[in-house]
Amino acid sequence: MVKKRACVFISGSGTNLREIIKASRDYNFPVKVCLVASDNEKAKGIIFAKKFSIPYVCLNTNKYKFEKTILKKLFEYKIDIICLAGFMKILSKKFIRNFKKKIINIHPSLLPKYKGLNTFQRALKSNEKLTGCTVHFVNEKLDSGKIIIKKRVNIYKDDNVETLKKRVQFEEYRAYSCAIRRVYNFN
Ligand code: GAR
Repeated sequence: MVKKRACVFISGSGTNLREIIKASRDYNFPVKVCLVASDNEKAKGIIFAKKFSIPYVCLNTNKYKFEKTILKKLFEYKIDIICLAGFMKILSKKFIRNFKKKIINIHPSLLPKYKGLNTFQRALKSNEKLTGCTVHFVNEKLDSGKIIIKKRVNIYKDDNVETLKKRVQFEEYRAYSCAIRRVYNFN
């Protein structure tokens, strides 16, 4: 099977990157991670690119330069799909238009609820009983593209940001690989 070529964008700890790489080692998984891109030279997640010998680009620079440089790399590595995994910059409309191929993102809430930042704090403050995560296509509006998959997580009375984050992230790992399979109709 010829796998599609993925670039994973990260800004921080990269645990979703780690899980995508693990899933991609399955012969039947539709993508191979061929490149990792980070807008943060100190992103812990780069360790996973190193560990699995995946080429990576780290650029602490302004958005314009970052996007220009990365776009070249994406063409150079013949990337078919960008997976945003804890990437904290908002991609410009120009970048999205120029890439032209698939871009997907994981967001720690049940979209359309709680777009943007601090989703756990906001869900707890609003006394929600349920939250979760969503993988969606990226379009030119923040956290608004077509939804591929959602996973639900209960919120308990004694939850705080850390306990909730831990349970949501556990679901994220399963959600992201399911979503990638779904994008390529492999489930
Ligand atoms: C994940 O929980 C992801 O949903 C979130 O950042 C975390 C990254 O964790 N993304 C966003 O908030 C995007 N708006 P990771 O670096 O360990 O994968």
